[in-house]
Amino acid sequence: MAKFIVPKEIHHGLGSLERLKDLKGKKAVLVIGGSSVRKNGSLERAQNYLAEANIESSVFGGVEADPSIDTVYKGAEFITQEQPDVIIGLGGCSAIDAAKAMWIYYEYPDSKLEDLVAPFAVKPLRNKAIFVAVPSTSGTGTEVTGLSVITDREKGTKYPIVSHELTPDVAIIDGELCASMPTHVTGNTGLDVLSHGVEAYASNIADRYNDALAKGAIDLVFKNLPTVIKEPNNLDARQTMHDASCMAGMAFTNVWLGIVHSMSHQIGGTFGIPHGCGNAILMPNVIRFNSKVTDKYEDLAALLGKSTAEEFAQEVSNLRESVGVVGSLKEYGIDAIEWEAKLDTLTENAMKDPCTLFNPRKPKFEEIKAILQACYDGEAITF
Ligand SMILES: [Fe+2]
Repeated sequence: MAKFIVPKEIHHGLGSLERLKDLKGKKAVLVIGGSSVRKNGSLERAQNYLAEANIESSVFGGVEADPSIDTVYKGAEFITQEQPDVIIGLGGCSAIDAAKAMWIYYEYPDSKLEDLVAPFAVKPLRNKAIFVAVPSTSGTGTEVTGLSVITDREKGTKYPIVSHELTPDVAIIDGELCASMPTHVTGNTGLDVLSHGVEAYASNIADRYNDALAKGAIDLVFKNLPTVIKEPNNLDARQTMHDASCMAGMAFTNVWLGIVHSMSHQIGGTFGIPHGCGNAILMPNVIRFNSKVTDKYEDLAALLGKSTAEEFAQEVSNLRESVGVVGSLKEYGIDAIEWEAKLDTLTENAMKDPCTLFNPRKPKFEEIKAILQACYDGEAITF
């Protein structure tokens, strides 16, 4: 038995921001990041649509990349003053993740971050407000997942809050909002989408519901990511990548991820390597490693007219290269001495990462270490 949890409503398609007009409520707070949603007019449009629905709105702005717990407290204070019955995360993943955490503090002001990080510890939400997510980047799928990542800068730690309570009530997947994403962001976030599809498809609790979404997303990424890189103004390709991100998000929020993410969380936190870029470097070797216990990569190879896991790993490398992302951690610029000094800690923390639990092959410490080293050197593993 298994359950499948996604938002109640997902509006998708170019121009679907307009569906904000259908919301029911009295007052909305929009949580946004920097100035891009102001500059490209989507904030104004969103507020106009809310006004058409007779919903008053106010804005909490300035959520930074990798949002901090301090930002969450400030936003929750603002939301508490405003008393909305709708909270809207509008913008990149950081704005939406921060808005989700603010929502918890609005509903339960005495919450403690240390308690919230225990899996599925969030108490029932929606006593005061519903949550709407409107992403302007195609990557994490946070608009449909029960996940919010908050950073405690003092402790230098990222806290994932995991709970199906955090799954938004409404998601709006409008590719027009992604049109201004810079090329390197499009490349990295697109490869993150691919990694969500591939890891969800190979998850040790995968099922046919999530397989269909994961496989569909992978197919769309291979067909469309090179196009959006070459033609950033191609709105149909933007919408397709936005849909792929949402589909991969729906899959992985239900069956979780594997050791690509376990290792990527560590190299991202330690060396600041962009998440999608790290994932793309790690993915081919993880496919090789896992292919000793699962034949699922052969299905994925078949999508591309190939037949073996090794061929699929190669196709992932080719896609990475075609969107201009480097092929090894050394090439990314991580210093060899620093790498050697930190490798054991990275390995230890990757072993403890919750994603490791869902990897199809249970890794040993020495195996994770060897995969990391091979990805540093840009070599293929053979075990
Ligand atoms: Fe990811």
